[in-house]
Amino acid sequence: MRSIINEKNLNNKKILLRLDLNVPLERDKITDTTRIDKILPTLNFLIREKAKIIILSHIGRPKGKIVKELSLKPICEELQNKLKKKVKLISENIKEIKSKNFFGDYNEDIFILENIRFYSEEEQNDNKFAKLLSNLGDIYVNDAFSCSHRAHASINEIPKFLPSFSGLQLDLEVNALNKITSEITRPITCIIGGSKISTKINVIKNLITKFDNIVIVGGMANNFIEFYGNCIGKSIKEKNCEKIVEEILTLSKKEKCKIIYPDDVIVSKDLNGSPQKKELGEILSNEMILDIGPKTIEKITNIIDNSKTILWNGPAGYFENPNFANGSIQIAKKIIENNKANKIFSVAGGGDTVSLLNNLNIVNNFNFVSTAGGAFLEYLEGKNLPGITALN
Ligand code: 3PG
Repeated sequence: MRSIINEKNLNNKKILLRLDLNVPLERDKITDTTRIDKILPTLNFLIREKAKIIILSHIGRPKGKIVKELSLKPICEELQNKLKKKVKLISENIKEIKSKNFFGDYNEDIFILENIRFYSEEEQNDNKFAKLLSNLGDIYVNDAFSCSHRAHASINEIPKFLPSFSGLQLDLEVNALNKITSEITRPITCIIGGSKISTKINVIKNLITKFDNIVIVGGMANNFIEFYGNCIGKSIKEKNCEKIVEEILTLSKKEKCKIIYPDDVIVSKDLNGSPQKKELGEILSNEMILDIGPKTIEKITNIIDNSKTILWNGPAGYFENPNFANGSIQIAKKIIENNKANKIFSVAGGGDTVSLLNNLNIVNNFNFVSTAGGAFLEYLEGKNLPGITALN
C-alpha cells in the first residue's frame, strides 16, 4: 500500500478522493463532526501540494435512490468552514458529467460529488460506473478506512483504473490496529452493540477464537434474547438469524469464550417514550428494548474489571435519547476508570460510539479510537478488507 503522503509532483493533478463523510445528521445538522475532522490533514496536504480535489462519499443507506435528506450539502458547508476554502457540491447526474476537465468550467479547486449511494451501481460494485468515475481524476486516494470493508465501486473498483494510494487517516487506522492486534494482552473483552446488526452478527463467530468474553448489547442482543424464548416486542432485530445465533453459542462453548447478553433491559413504547425497567420475561408486544438494565450493567462492569484489554464497538442502547443512554454511559465510565488506573488497554470504534464518547467528552481517555465500526470488527477478525486489498 502506497501512501499519498510520500508522493511528489501532485501540482495540478486531479485527485479522486474517497472519504467516509457518513456523519450523524439530525434535520440537516451534523451532530458529530469527528469523521470530518479526521480527514482534514489529508485535504490540507493535498491543498498544500496544489492538487485539484474531487471528493467521493456516501452518507446513510439511500439504496440507489435520490433521498433529499441524505444530501451531502450540510457536509459540503461544514468542509468549507473548516478548510476556509470554497467547496463545490456537484449535484448533477454523475453519469452525465462528460468532461475530464470540469475544473476548467469552475473557479473552485475542491469538488464534492453528491452522495455516491444515490447510484445503485455503487453498491453493485459496477465496473463501468467505476471506470466512468475514474475518468474524472488522475490519481485515486482512499482515506475511508471505515468503509473499506465494503466491496463497492468507489472503494473496490476505481483502483483498477488509476494509480491508487492510501490517505493519512487510513494509514493511521491501519497502523494502530496492526499494533493493537499484535500486542494484545489477555483476558480480552469485546463489547459489541449498535444498530447495524446485519453487518456485525456474522463477524462474531470469527471473533470467538480470538477473545475471552464477547458482550452483546444494542440491537444484536435482541436476537439472542428472542432466541432464548423471550418476547422482544417491537425491538429491532435481524430476521432469520436463529442458525447463526446457535452456531455462535455452540462455538463459544467449544472455544471457552463467554458470550454475555442482557439479563434485564429498559423498554419503552417508542423512541421518545419514558423508560421502564423489565426482566426478560416481562417485555410486552407493544414495547421496544432501548437500553440494558442495572443487573446487566453490573455484570458488564465486573467483566471490565477482570479484563486487560477492552475493544468496544457500538452503544448499548438508543443513547441519542438520554433516557436510554445510561447503559452506554456506565460502560464508558468503567472503561475510563480502569484506563486511568492503567489496568486496561482500551480501544473504541464506530461512528455512534465515537459520537457518544464525544458527547461525554471522554474520547481522549481511550488508548485508541477508530472512526470505523464494521471495518474495525472485520479487521480484528483478520479479514482482508476489499478497500485495502484494492490498494495493494
Ligand atoms: C460506517 O458508518 O460504518 C460506514 O460509513 C459504512 O456504512 P455502511 O454500514 O452503511 O456501509
